[in-house]
Amino acid sequence: MSKLRILLVGASGTLGRAVAAELGQRHEIIPAGRSADIKIDLTDPASIVAALKAAGPLDAVVSAAGSVAFKPLSDIGPATIDTSVYGIGLRDKLMGQVNLALAARDVLKDGGSITLTTGVLTTDLIVAGSSATMVNCAVEGFVRAAAIELPRGIRINAVSPTVLTESMEGYGPFFRGFKPVPAAEAAMGFSRSVEGAETGRVYTIV
Ligand SMILES: NC(=O)c1ccc[n+]([C@@H]2O[C@H](COP(=O)([O-])OP(=O)(O)OC[C@H]3O[C@@H](n4cnc5c(N)ncnc54)[C@H](OP(=O)(O)O)[C@@H]3O)[C@@H](O)[C@H]2O)c1
Repeated sequence: MSKLRILLVGASGTLGRAVAAELGQRHEIIPAGRSADIKIDLTDPASIVAALKAAGPLDAVVSAAGSVAFKPLSDIGPATIDTSVYGIGLRDKLMGQVNLALAARDVLKDGGSITLTTGVLTTDLIVAGSSATMVNCAVEGFVRAAAIELPRGIRINAVSPTVLTESMEGYGPFFRGFKPVPAAEAAMGFSRSVEGAETGRVYTIV
């Protein structure tokens, strides 16, 4: 496989650093984020379009970003998206990644790939995780449906890691009994998506 140019959103994060280390061995990584050289804010569609333009020709767009709020259901009441705690995840991890994929569709080289991030809470449920589960399931639904409509041989997949070893200090209380995986193992799912041939897949890393 020839050397690919890969835009990596969230390259400075816990997961993103491991993805950069794995794919950076064989490909050119262009880091993107709110404080990276290529500025992108997933909650701002205009910044997504501008970042993809600034990055130049791309073979792959990868998201290792996406925020959601963790709050017990008992503390959440009916509200509009603008005022609900759910709005954070809907605007950032869901629509941010969906908009990234839609913008990538228009600029990727023929046969390029899009890889989004979900997480173990798609299938495994925790207290305070309703936003994460809702958003992760929606992202995975988008990935599976978009895969059959993307033009020019462009592929799309998601990677769904369990909690990362490196994040257990902060996330541990939410994930008692979960066996964490090192971020380097989660990064292998991104390698399968970017360097493989499948589309519409969710690579679960547990
Ligand atoms: N950590 C885990 O255990 C774990 C497990 C499963 C799934 N995940 C998922 O993996 C993803 C990354 O998690 P993480 O723990 O690596 O997060 P993290 O360490 O907080 O890193 C987040 C990364 O995303 C960037 N970012 C944050 N908000 C952004 C925005 N609005 N627009 C563009 N970039 C943004 C940050 O850079 P800037 O601040 O420069 O923007 C940073 O590079 C999330 O979707 C998370 O749900 C994480």
